[in-house]
Amino acid sequence: MYTEKVMDHFTNPRNVGEISDANGVGEVGNAKCGDIMRIYLKVEDDIIKDVKFKTFGCGAAIATSSMVTELVMGKTLDEALEISNQAVAEALGGLPPAKMHCSNLAADALHEAIKDYIEKKGK
Ligand code: FES
Repeated sequence: MYTEKVMDHFTNPRNVGEISDANGVGEVGNAKCGDIMRIYLKVEDDIIKDVKFKTFGCGAAIATSSMVTELVMGKTLDEALEISNQAVAEALGGLPPAKMHCSNLAADALHEAIKDYIEKKGK
């Protein structure tokens, strides 16, 4: 039911943890299941130099969190803002329809973290 990529990112998630001096943090919760995802960004010159995540959620949520960190590492903020929930799911080779809502957390948390960074910068 899950692709190999999903299983890989679930069993061996990349970039797990916190960034103590993060300058952008985004948190979103999924009202359906109560799962929560937090993304930490370290941005320099509008480029994402480091990204980490903490997800209290299902396997699909952990896999999408892990994938989104890989997708945005080294990207500009504008490029990162273009990453959609759909793009994250596609990068994982797809998710079962019943699990598509789980992928919403990843891009949403990323976008929240970018918004937080921009607000802190006063831009
Ligand atoms: Fe909650 Fe997947 S069941 S995010």
